[in-house]
Amino acid sequence: MTSSTDPKTDSEPDTTSDEGVQQRDPQAAIDAQSEGRRAELDDRIFEHSAGDQQEGVPFVGAGPGDPRLLTVAGKELLEAADLVVHAGSLVNSELLDAYCAQAELVNSVGKDLEELIPLMRDAYEDGDTVVRLHSGDPAIYGAALEQMDALEHEGVPTYFVPGVTSAFAASATLRTQLTLNEVANHVAITRPQGKTLTEDEDHISEFVGMGDVTTCIYLGTHAVRDTMDRLLEDGHDPETPTAVVYHASWPDEDVIVGTIETIADRVEDAGYRASALVLIGDAVTGAGYERSFLYGDWANRGSERTSE
Ligand SMILES: C[S@@+](CC[C@H](N)C(=O)[O-])C[C@H]1O[C@@H](n2cnc3c(N)ncnc32)[C@H](O)[C@@H]1O
Repeated sequence: MTSSTDPKTDSEPDTTSDEGVQQRDPQAAIDAQSEGRRAELDDRIFEHSAGDQQEGVPFVGAGPGDPRLLTVAGKELLEAADLVVHAGSLVNSELLDAYCAQAELVNSVGKDLEELIPLMRDAYEDGDTVVRLHSGDPAIYGAALEQMDALEHEGVPTYFVPGVTSAFAASATLRTQLTLNEVANHVAITRPQGKTLTEDEDHISEFVGMGDVTTCIYLGTHAVRDTMDRLLEDGHDPETPTAVVYHASWPDEDVIVGTIETIADRVEDAGYRASALVLIGDAVTGAGYERSFLYGDWANRGSERTSE
């Protein structure tokens, strides 16, 4: 077993910043960490569980927006931080005001790895308590692992602290479940084609075509019209329930409900181009489900009862 804080190798290119600080090429660091992981799993996987306070820089999920939807672990870490590097407008400033009053705040938006990694590394090596704060949960479209790998490669340990992802806030707002007996057996977390995904990598139509899937589209507010047009072209039922939840759990939260056919007009009328979650599928309305086995026949199976 290895620790991913293995010392850096000398085979990688160094760069020197304007301030004369030596820094490593983040891509080389990512490649090295990733290769090491392929060869052997990190010991810490078996030594810690999610929620444990660990040595190093925690990558904390801020939750969807409402400061009260931050975890207790996240709150404690923020309150003890000297430096919080946060995800800009996707993190509610009320949360920063409430829990980071003692910390220096840095917005990560517009900063590349070459800037972010030395910033966090140097603060950590100077003895500061550093927190990297992502919106929602860092494991969902958070680009957290590349920062963690680059830091680990420089000898700075890191770990995840989960958060409430925005799909869960949106389903709570909609007063429904993403999985619902006889309606939706699966959840797809996805994003539409664009700069990151090619047309072939966009699987929204396939998920919707499966029928019993609730499709949760992140990073797709600006593309609602294109996405719905493609679904209609692919022959999906135009009446399929669809919702767009803007700023779930924020004070200006807005809920737009409709169908694959109607939702684009409504979102355009509202003027939203970002910061919303698109949900497609019958579970969006919460209608038509059957009672589950859990509180039916299974509940009466005595000692064989499962708590699934
Ligand atoms: C870069 S991703 C980050 C997702 C985040 N890690 C999470 O778990 O929610 C940003 C996208 O998440 C969604 N998002 C984040 N916060 C949201 C919120 N409060 N309400 C609705 N959608 C949100 C939007 O689709 C946005 O474009």
